[in-house]
Amino acid sequence: MLYEDLETAIKAREAKVSVLGQGYIGLPTSLLIARAGFTVYGFDVNEELIRDLSKGSTKLEEEKGIPELLRDLKGRNYFPTNDLDDLYGSDVVLIAVPTPKGRNGPDLGMLISALETALGVVRRGGLVVIESTLPPRAFQDLILPLVESRGMRVGTDIYLAYCPERALPGKLIQELTQNFRIIGAADERSGRLAKILYESFVEGNIEIVDPLTAEMVKLVENSFRDVNIAFANEIARMCETLGVDVRRVRELANKHPRVNMLIPGIGVGGSCLTKDPWFLYWISRERGYTPNLIRESRRINSGMPYHYAEVLDELVRRLRGGRGTIAVLGLTYKGDVPDPRESPVEPLVKELVKRGHTVRTYDPLIDSSFGGERISDFLEAVRGADVLAFTADHSEFKMLDLKKLRRAVGKDGPVILFDGRLLFDPEEAEEAGFLYISVGRPYSILDNSLVTIKD
Ligand SMILES: NC(=O)c1ccc[n+]([C@@H]2O[C@H](COP(=O)([O-])OP(=O)(O)OC[C@H]3O[C@@H](n4cnc5c(N)ncnc54)[C@H](O)[C@@H]3O)[C@@H](O)[C@H]2O)c1
Repeated sequence: MLYEDLETAIKAREAKVSVLGQGYIGLPTSLLIARAGFTVYGFDVNEELIRDLSKGSTKLEEEKGIPELLRDLKGRNYFPTNDLDDLYGSDVVLIAVPTPKGRNGPDLGMLISALETALGVVRRGGLVVIESTLPPRAFQDLILPLVESRGMRVGTDIYLAYCPERALPGKLIQELTQNFRIIGAADERSGRLAKILYESFVEGNIEIVDPLTAEMVKLVENSFRDVNIAFANEIARMCETLGVDVRRVRELANKHPRVNMLIPGIGVGGSCLTKDPWFLYWISRERGYTPNLIRESRRINSGMPYHYAEVLDELVRRLRGGRGTIAVLGLTYKGDVPDPRESPVEPLVKELVKRGHTVRTYDPLIDSSFGGERISDFLEAVRGADVLAFTADHSEFKMLDLKKLRRAVGKDGPVILFDGRLLFDPEEAEEAGFLYISVGRPYSILDNSLVTIKD
């Protein structure tokens, strides 16, 4: 196929597009490209997922706009499939399969396998775009050599680009259409073709750069977030030890015109923030520079849920002289985001269960329980509990009337409200009759002999 023909087909939205991987990123991207007018084949190796999509049902039911788009476009110009025959002769293939972290480095097994599939089904002179997160230099050192080893010359036989995805679950359609996009292009023509494709559904700016810059930008964005959260978390841990409330410290420090400290919490989760900093760390270390700040930030953030499991365990034992009942409220890694992946609440729950407590879990958005006892009714989850541990900042929690909540718990004796996301006003919680404990506050408020738990 001539370059000009492909450019014309993409501009006219007549190109046949296949998207490999129909998860959090691949499905909404397929639907948006289909909505723009292209014929899109959504391929996944997970047969059950394809069966569900073919019936119009998706695990992203809580994602605004996705169920509606699926039902509207399925069978019209969006076709979920696990049959490779449907993909042959694609003009464009997008890859959105997982690139998880392995034990000591990125695990690119699924990406390589999807790339092999893409090279097998794309027509000669077609475009392949990788959306899956790549570690730095993977495009140059792994992807290009693999493509060339198949006898394809990049820039003539095939066009190739890396367009890292940075959308947030919970706001996928909004972010996929409105975020600024980066295209890391193998050559000028690949960049131009990818840009025309993305312009069909992206309203934000699109910038074409070299692949290594695109790899770095994606990873730097998430590492920036992780390091800044780690700073807030470290200050919170310090405040607990030194006997001062982080809430007040942050509020006043942030009045400085050049300070913007984030809100500390029980940890960091999600599929990207827990992985991307490690991609940077591993590859940079391999090539001779060890990024200590990035590694330490990861360690601080991933240590937070274990620290609070220890705090809660200690408090319950002091309060009850043994094990207790802990209601863990909010299981997702972020408020109002229906995504349980890599949630810091998971190790917190598991640790409390391991220590022998009865752990009830409640989340309005997901049905995971992380090894606790899942309770679907909020009032049932809190009734009679020794501790209410708020671990996700869902809007529904922020609206709670704490006096009514204390009555709903309904037991005599002390009840701990553990505020893992700084949702409540301490005085209001105490007036409502709770023993208020939070991230970044000394625990000695419970009992003067109780000091901060050490590492
Ligand atoms: N979810 C996010 O918030 C997010 C944000 C930005 C970037 N990313 C990146 O996007 C990529 C995809 O992530 P996701 O969250 O959509 O993953 P996901 O797990 O939700 O979906 C990936 C899908 O790919 C399928 N798959 C695996 N191997 C395949 C193959 N060889 N051929 C076809 N399908 C295959 C899986 O069955 C799965 O359904 C990852 O690299 C991730 O780091 C994700």
